[in-house]
Amino acid sequence: SHFRNASLFGKEYKEDHMTNLTPRIINNLGNHKHRIPNHPIEIIKNEIYKYFDQSSTSFAKFEELSPIVTVEQNFDSVLIPKEHVSRDKKDNYYINEELLLRAHTSAHQVELLRKGESSFLCCGDVYRRDTMDRSHYPIFHQMEGPRKLFIRGSEKVENDLKRTLEGLVKHLFGENVEYRWMDEYFPFTHPSFEIEVFYEGDWLEILGCGIMEHRVLVNGKAEDKIGWAFGLGLERLAMRLFDIKDIRLFWKSEVVQEQFQNFTGDFRQFKFVLPERKIEPAKFDLAFWVPEGFHEHDFYDIARNIDVEDAIENVELIDVFTHPKTGKTSHCYRTFYRGALKGLQFKDVEHIDSAIRAALQEQGAGLR
Ligand code: PHE
Repeated sequence: SHFRNASLFGKEYKEDHMTNLTPRIINNLGNHKHRIPNHPIEIIKNEIYKYFDQSSTSFAKFEELSPIVTVEQNFDSVLIPKEHVSRDKKDNYYINEELLLRAHTSAHQVELLRKGESSFLCCGDVYRRDTMDRSHYPIFHQMEGPRKLFIRGSEKVENDLKRTLEGLVKHLFGENVEYRWMDEYFPFTHPSFEIEVFYEGDWLEILGCGIMEHRVLVNGKAEDKIGWAFGLGLERLAMRLFDIKDIRLFWKSEVVQEQFQNFTGDFRQFKFVLPERKIEPAKFDLAFWVPEGFHEHDFYDIARNIDVEDAIENVELIDVFTHPKTGKTSHCYRTFYRGALKGLQFKDVEHIDSAIRAALQEQGAGLR
C-alpha cells in the first residue's frame, strides 16, 4: 500500500515491514527550503550563519547532505537506546528496516566529526510523522552545530556554550529578549539544556543543546576532545520572527516569493501578512473501527497523502472508545478544511474527505 520499489533520488530501495513512506513525502523529497534565495527559512539560516561568522572560530557549513540516513546514523551513532520511543514507526518515515528519512540533523554529527570537522553547522530538511495542525508539517528544517571542540581538560565548555547561544538568541530576537535556561534530556549530550524565549505571553522552546557525550566523540574519532552541540528548528524561529501563523505557508511558493522577494535590511522589522480568509473552516467528522496496530499518526499521514494541496488546517482526535464486548477500538477525527491563503467551501473539499474514507477502508478500517 505504500510504494513498490520506490525510486528516491533515482535509486531503488527494497521495502519491508518497516516501510511507511508515502508518495506525498517521496514527491517532496529534497524539496527543501533552506537553499531557496529569500525564502524565510533561508533568511533565518543566513542570520544564524551571520551570527556565527562574527566569532573568532571559523566553521564549515553543510547543507546538502542527503536526508536518507541509516538507522545507525539517526539513532545509534548518537546513543539513542535500541528500544527508545523516538525510533518508533509511528513517528518516523522508514524506507525499510535499515534506512529512514532523517528525523534530526544530529544524524550527521558523527559522520562530520569523522571527517575531522571540529566546528561546523549542518542544515537540512528533516522528516517526522506527527499531528496535523498549524505548527506541524511532516517536513521541516533544522540547523545543528557542534560549535567548537576543545582539547580535553579545558573547563570553559559550559561557559562557552551559554555565552554563545545567549548571543544567538539576542541576535535573533533582539537585545531585550526575555529568555531562560531549562534543564533538558538528550541521549547525546550531558548536561543538556533548552532555551525558552518569552513570546506573546508564552514560553517557547527554541533550541536544544548540551555538552557532547564522550561516546559520541568516540564514535566520531574525536575522543581526545570535548565540545558542545545545539540543534534548532528553523520553521519555529521563522514563524515567531516573521509572524507566520500557519506552517503551510512555507510551502506556498507564490506568496513566499511575493512577500519575501524584496526582503532587505533588518529581518526583525519584517512581518508576514496573512491574507484574510472570510469563510470559516469546513468541518468533517469521521468515525471508524481502527485496524490492528493503528496509530493516530497513521490517520494524519493518510490524510496528508491525499491532501496534496494542503486544504486541511488541522485535525482533532475527538473520541476514542473501546467496545466492551468486541474489544474493538473506535476513533473519531474532526477535520477542519481551510486553505492557508483562502477559505474553502464544503463542495471544494468533499472529494478529499471521501478519498480519505476510501483509503481508510482499504487499510482495513471499518467506517461507522
Ligand atoms: N536533535 C535534537 C532535536 O531534534 C536537538 C539537539 C541537537 C539537542 C544537538 C542537543 C544537541 O530535538
